[in-house]
Amino acid sequence: MADREDNFSYRLWRYDGAPGELIPLLQSAQIHFGYIPRRAISYISSVTGIPESEVYGVTTFYSQFRLQPTGKYVIRACAGTACHVSGSKQIIETIEDELGVEVGDTTKDGLFTLNTVACIGCCSLSPVVVINDDTFGRLTPSNLRKLLRGYKRREKSASTAAPVGENV
Ligand code: FES
Repeated sequence: MADREDNFSYRLWRYDGAPGELIPLLQSAQIHFGYIPRRAISYISSVTGIPESEVYGVTTFYSQFRLQPTGKYVIRACAGTACHVSGSKQIIETIEDELGVEVGDTTKDGLFTLNTVACIGCCSLSPVVVINDDTFGRLTPSNLRKLLRGYKRREKSASTAAPVGENV
């Protein structure tokens, strides 16, 4: 049932004009597309009768909503108190510098999205960064650069690898 409740089309079909339905509709759109594309805003507006500008305004007001697709790797850099004391500012700046991306954005190649979070819950490992489901702690700018370059190297070799079964 949870899947059905998260289903974008199902929620739109069920929409009965009840107040407070816009947020769940936007949440299900984000689950469906991975972000909220322009066409989803138009579609929600046409079904609900809520002006597009209002729908758009809600998506920009709440930080939970993304208007851009996320990268293949979502980096969550902890900026909580323990991590801050251990140098998270430098860690975040290192990521921005190494990947050429700012907090809240995705790299041009679509590989990395950088976000910050308040606390990841493993403060004893501070400063901490999570990349998708992998947690990396006690980071320094130097070992973080090595880590990120490892990701980039793997992506580069994966994109240049010969298709399976083809002799080179
Ligand atoms: S403050 Fe960073 S993990 Fe808790």
